[in-house]
Amino acid sequence: MIPSIKNICCIGAGYVGGPTMSVFADRCPNIEVNVVDVNKERISLWNSSNLNDLPIYEPGLKEIISRCKGRNLNFSTDVKKYIQLADMIFISVNTPTKKKGIGAGQASDLKWVEACARQVAEFAKGYTIVVEKSTLPVKTAEVIKKILDSTQTSPDKKFDKSFDVLSNPEFLSEGSAINDLENPDRVLIGGENENAISALSNIYKNWIPANKILHTNIWSSELAKLTANAFLAQRISSINSISALCEATGADVREVARAIGTDSRIGSKFLDSGPGFGGSCFKKDILNLVYLSKYFGLPEVASFWEGVVKLNNWHQHRISELIVKKLFGTTSGKKICIFGFAFKANTNDTRESAAIKICKDLLEEGSILFIHDPKVDPKQIEKDLGIKQSVLNGEISNVEHLSKYEGNWFFTNKIIPATYEADALCFLTEWEEYSELDWNLISQKMRKPAWVFDSRSIVSAKEVKKAGLNLWRIGDSSY
Ligand code: NAD
Ligand code: UGA
Repeated sequence: MIPSIKNICCIGAGYVGGPTMSVFADRCPNIEVNVVDVNKERISLWNSSNLNDLPIYEPGLKEIISRCKGRNLNFSTDVKKYIQLADMIFISVNTPTKKKGIGAGQASDLKWVEACARQVAEFAKGYTIVVEKSTLPVKTAEVIKKILDSTQTSPDKKFDKSFDVLSNPEFLSEGSAINDLENPDRVLIGGENENAISALSNIYKNWIPANKILHTNIWSSELAKLTANAFLAQRISSINSISALCEATGADVREVARAIGTDSRIGSKFLDSGPGFGGSCFKKDILNLVYLSKYFGLPEVASFWEGVVKLNNWHQHRISELIVKKLFGTTSGKKICIFGFAFKANTNDTRESAAIKICKDLLEEGSILFIHDPKVDPKQIEKDLGIKQSVLNGEISNVEHLSKYEGNWFFTNKIIPATYEADALCFLTEWEEYSELDWNLISQKMRKPAWVFDSRSIVSAKEVKKAGLNLWRIGDSSY
């Protein structure tokens, strides 16, 4: 019999758990959706009456939260209570790269997933479907099942417990999470028990056509998620490698991308050369694939995928190096504005952002950075750079005493004033507002000779040149 799901618990209220469960609650008003997390601060932000305080910025998220919170969507730190109530439990916790021990630097650290499995084993009642939403190494379901099966009765022996485990990886991208969840290319469900698979499929069928819901065995589902991220990241390293060749040869990477992207076998998406891929997942998931390949005795496969990450690291340093070279070999004491710190536009997430490496390199050179980002909190930048922000006494234009701030950084929420007496502007995130700047005004403010470094092809190259500024644009040697 196909179980009817009335109560869902999602463990992990992060970038995946929060938006995914909000869309579930919105599209399935008859299901109670409870999102639990051990992080009290995060839960209190999800519960804030001011929707501008939500812990995650995603276009469209606020509207859904305002419709569903208090109706059938609830955020809580009471993990035990909501596990007990649930018919279906999603594990949506972090799975970062291991920092120490066997597999350090490559394998996924599964301690949070294991902790969830133990909590579920202890608190669940009756029959429960456990769904892997986190991205996991292939074969993790086996570990989860072993932990769950070790507790078949409640401690007081009052009721039996039984579990099925499904894999249902998430393919959303940050910045477009709501649209990706509402109109996904596909939903992937891996598992063995047909009834459990149907129970989860029936939830998705509330808003997703049945032909977009794919069923596979559980190992294919786990591996497909890692493979999808590896293929996407591989495209970015491929086009970024070509951008360096374009700069050396006089070709233009945008033209090359357009020319190859019109081949329907290649396709036009994911061919934008940039400062190198960031985000919490590409690097960690490829490294995990590398680890698994080595573990299963396939060193050639491991080194093929490792190359994607190596190219990305090289490319990010390539950008900071060329900035230093163009500024006469030193940026010590020079004022450089960094426009964009998030790893991509439309998110406040900075995890693995190219901006972190590039800013660290420039600070190491003694640059004075003015960092702007419309959504990133300066406290997050402090954590990422490991240096406290400096505070100017008075107006941004009081630059006389800037030299004492070598190797330090300021946060600014004003674009034009920040450019005052700057030697260079460096665009690292493709925020829309950077495409509409008044270049004549900016040129008047900057110290000459002044440079614009555009790693996202976001500014108007013609206007920058017309305003008398030097321009470096990724994958283009014509300026
Ligand atoms: P995140 O760090 O934003 O959120 C994870 C949350 O889980 C944290 O708030 C943490 O406090 C909580 N948590 C950890 N252990 C817990 C426990 N035992 N009990 C209760 N709460 C616990 O992570 P995320 O970005 O949402 O990613 C989650 C998973 O989804 C990862 O495996 C990731 O690879 C995968 N994924 C992420 C994205 C993305 O865009 N961020 C997309 C697809 C898949
Ligand atoms: C990525 C995948 O796209 C999602 O399908 C997946 O679910 C998710 O990882 C995950 O598993 O975490 P995300 O990291 O949110 O999503 O963002 P992407 O849009 O994929 O961008 C990743 C990085 O690549 C960003 O730094 C972005 O700027 C860069 N990028 C992307 C480029 O440099 N060029 C492109 O053409 C596309």
